[in-house]
Amino acid sequence: MSENLIEVKKLVTQFLGKNGTVTAVDGVSFTIGKGKTLGIVGESGCGKSVTSMSILKLIPKQTGKIASGEILFKGKDLTKLSEKEIRQIRGNEIAMIFQDSMTGLNPVMTIGKQLAETITAHSKMDKKQAWERAEEMLAKVGIPSPAQRLKEFPHQLSGGMRQRVMIAMALSCDADLFIADEPTTALDVTIQAQILELMKELKEKENKSIMLITHDMGVVAEMADDIMVMYAGKELECGSVEDIFKHPLHPYTCGLLKSIPRLDQDSSERLFNIPGSVPDLSEMPKGCKFCTRCSEACQKCREKEPDLYQVGKQKVRCWKYAPEGVE
Ligand SMILES: Nc1ncnc2c1ncn2[C@@H]1O[C@H](COP(=O)(O)OP(=O)(O)OP(=O)(O)O)[C@@H](O)[C@H]1O
Ligand SMILES: [Mg+2]
Repeated sequence: MSENLIEVKKLVTQFLGKNGTVTAVDGVSFTIGKGKTLGIVGESGCGKSVTSMSILKLIPKQTGKIASGEILFKGKDLTKLSEKEIRQIRGNEIAMIFQDSMTGLNPVMTIGKQLAETITAHSKMDKKQAWERAEEMLAKVGIPSPAQRLKEFPHQLSGGMRQRVMIAMALSCDADLFIADEPTTALDVTIQAQILELMKELKEKENKSIMLITHDMGVVAEMADDIMVMYAGKELECGSVEDIFKHPLHPYTCGLLKSIPRLDQDSSERLFNIPGSVPDLSEMPKGCKFCTRCSEACQKCREKEPDLYQVGKQKVRCWKYAPEGVE
């Protein structure tokens, strides 16, 4: 068994809403081993980004907080670190590729300066070598005329290009864990394939760990070792990619798997053919959170929320799989 690099235990993250406190991440637990990739999937609003922002303590203090749980990274609980200590971890030990490409870049610094600074901070290169390396990295992520682009500011680039700069930046740090939040959703198919290839190299050649957040089950199948399916802030099913693709247990997972994009469709489209939508955080159903959309829901599902049950090597939060005698 590989050693765990990160272990998240019963993480609860809440926000103060207009009608009181809402729980965006509701007791989620997972681990990522060294050299492993965990794919986190689920529809919009189910708490994927909030989970990743919680790890790096990027939840806005005015409105949100980690209410409970532990985030053990190399054995240290990140939730207990001071702002100064967590800043040391961000970008050095954990690199993040944000969903929103403006969040990860400094708007008043040229692309070249930002990249070169990151490179010199993580290697013995001098400024000139770092600049050359930065140009090489931009070319690697498929940016045309990289030498010219280095002199530009983030707002001068398109969203897709900024995304690739952020990926180049993350790849230039010597981090052990990469958190990639929809890293390729905004990119066209050829560039997407290039980026996924780069991420695979990180994992296979450098034994890096990746937490990959995506809507695209096809990307998960290609990239991840394990999957966590999230819905309304909870994990509904966890297991290895192999097990979950072969025999998905939760009706929600089955629905997600039916929505894998086909070659003849635009991959940027968010394809979900599960009827209905994720309920609002302030209006969650009493029982299983998915019961309002589940074709198999019965009275019990509407009344009481199931626990996560172990079925073979998978875990699933569904009454269908509760051991006998569990009420
Ligand atoms: N700063 C915030 N203040 C209040 N609520 C928030 C905040 N950030 C996120 N939320 C809420 O938390 C829930 C989970 O959001 P999150 O961004 O994690 O979803 P997601 O799974 O990443 O969705 P997407 O696939 O669209 O990126 C949503 O209901 C969202 O409205
Ligand atoms: Mg998100």
